[in-house]
Amino acid sequence: MMWLLVFIIFTFAYEGETQTDFNPYMEAFNKRPWKCDQDYVQVRPGAFLFYWLYYADGSSTGAHQKPLIIWIQGGPGLAASGIGNFAEFGPLNMDMEPRNHTWVNGRNVLLIDHPVGTGFSYAVDDSLLVRTDREMAIDLSKLIKGFFKKHKAFRQTPTYIIGQSYGGKLSPRLGYYLYTAIQKKSLKMNFKGIGIGSGWVNPRESALVQPDFLYLMGIIDQSTYLRCKQIVKNMSVVIDNNEFMRALKLDSVLFTMLHWETSMEINFNNINQVSPYPALDKLEIKVNKYVKPTLSHVVNQSLQWEYRSDIVYENLYQNFFVPSTKFLEMLLNSTKLKITVYNGNLDVVTPLAGATNWVHKLQWHGAEEFRDARREPIRGFRNGFYKKSRQLSLWSVFGAGHWVPEDNPTAMEQILEHMIDEAE
Ligand SMILES: *[C@@H]1O[C@H](CO)[C@@H](O)[C@H](O)[C@H]1NC(C)=O
Ligand SMILES: *[C@@H]1O[C@H](CO)[C@@H](O)[C@H](O)[C@H]1NC(C)=O
Ligand SMILES: *[C@@H]1O[C@H](CO)[C@@H](O)[C@H](O)[C@H]1NC(C)=O
Ligand SMILES: *[C@@H]1O[C@H](CO)[C@@H](O)[C@H](O)[C@H]1NC(C)=O
Repeated sequence: MMWLLVFIIFTFAYEGETQTDFNPYMEAFNKRPWKCDQDYVQVRPGAFLFYWLYYADGSSTGAHQKPLIIWIQGGPGLAASGIGNFAEFGPLNMDMEPRNHTWVNGRNVLLIDHPVGTGFSYAVDDSLLVRTDREMAIDLSKLIKGFFKKHKAFRQTPTYIIGQSYGGKLSPRLGYYLYTAIQKKSLKMNFKGIGIGSGWVNPRESALVQPDFLYLMGIIDQSTYLRCKQIVKNMSVVIDNNEFMRALKLDSVLFTMLHWETSMEINFNNINQVSPYPALDKLEIKVNKYVKPTLSHVVNQSLQWEYRSDIVYENLYQNFFVPSTKFLEMLLNSTKLKITVYNGNLDVVTPLAGATNWVHKLQWHGAEEFRDARREPIRGFRNGFYKKSRQLSLWSVFGAGHWVPEDNPTAMEQILEHMIDEAE
């Protein structure tokens, strides 16, 4: 009896010690340090946006001489500090192991948890959560202003905004606000271009082709296809009438039908992969247990980090189907900003054909030239094609779903190089 007790006490003490001391995130970071700056900017009284800057190649020395990428995650309400960071392109992956194709090789990367209420960002009161794309973009501009105020050395650094999914829809609007602030001299930054990955820029065009894509890939049967087709046709009509809440209702009918039909758990982010949610649930535990304590100088330790915020998402319902094509057309018509649009061919949320359709529908001075431009392969024949005219390019990425940076890093690298290359 005595023996057993001693054994139990010993076991508990030992487990207690391993739990508090072993931190795989710290282990990986100590092996290969990546210099960071994490901080908050108060964008409105009581509303705080969190950012995480990775200095290029892990060192702040001379970092401002290398390009800066500002990453705008989607959702709305998905946390960049977790998803962009660990699931897509940060120096460590979701298993807290080094990622070979990290964007931080040769580039500074600024991740933003937005809107307020997402990830490490917070508001003292839920009434401060944003309800429109406009409010969302204004908060982001304020964060970016705050960032360049603190990091003055980066004001001359060639800077690119890259948004994914809902963040891709927000980027043209944000880009327009930033461009205007620079013209008015209320912001100093060397803004060079916008990347739009799997962008929900034109929800009408993306939704219209979802049934086609699923049918052609054999994921839904003919009767479901025909019913879905009718729903998205009705959706396009209500969107044309600016009835965005009606579009959202039809969308939920559509997705209920698809979930019922595809009971085999199709991953709408990438039809060739298993569901990402179990891995994201694990990531949530790891970020709270291993990452958050390393940010105790910045982050209130009683904050529970979540990879997605449902309340933030629900607050933006009425904007979900609002397009941002007008902002993109204004930028194309009246600025020299380089616009780089990319999309994977295994993506159900924003199918590649939808992206191709909305990009070709853009009304701008280079539209005709763009339509007639010839496509070129992306690094050989297995990574897809791209086409460009003047400052606009469209990249059709093979083998990638909604998260292109992780799914096809070879194509993504070529896209980033094109974006950042001033001669192109
Ligand atoms: C990263 O690259 C190294 C060396 O090229 C290789 O041994 C390793 O397997 C790669 N890791 C991953 C996760 O791809
Ligand atoms: C589409 O709209 C038509 C005309 O308003 C209506 O009769 C039909 O029931 C709608 N179909 C679906 C699937 O929503
Ligand atoms: C941290 O958050 C908790 C809960 O919101 C709050 O009560 C506490 O005052 C905060 N601590 C600091 C140092 O701000
Ligand atoms: C952009 O220019 C095209 C013509 O080149 C014009 O049709 C379109 O209305 C313009 N759009 C905006 C938003 O400036």
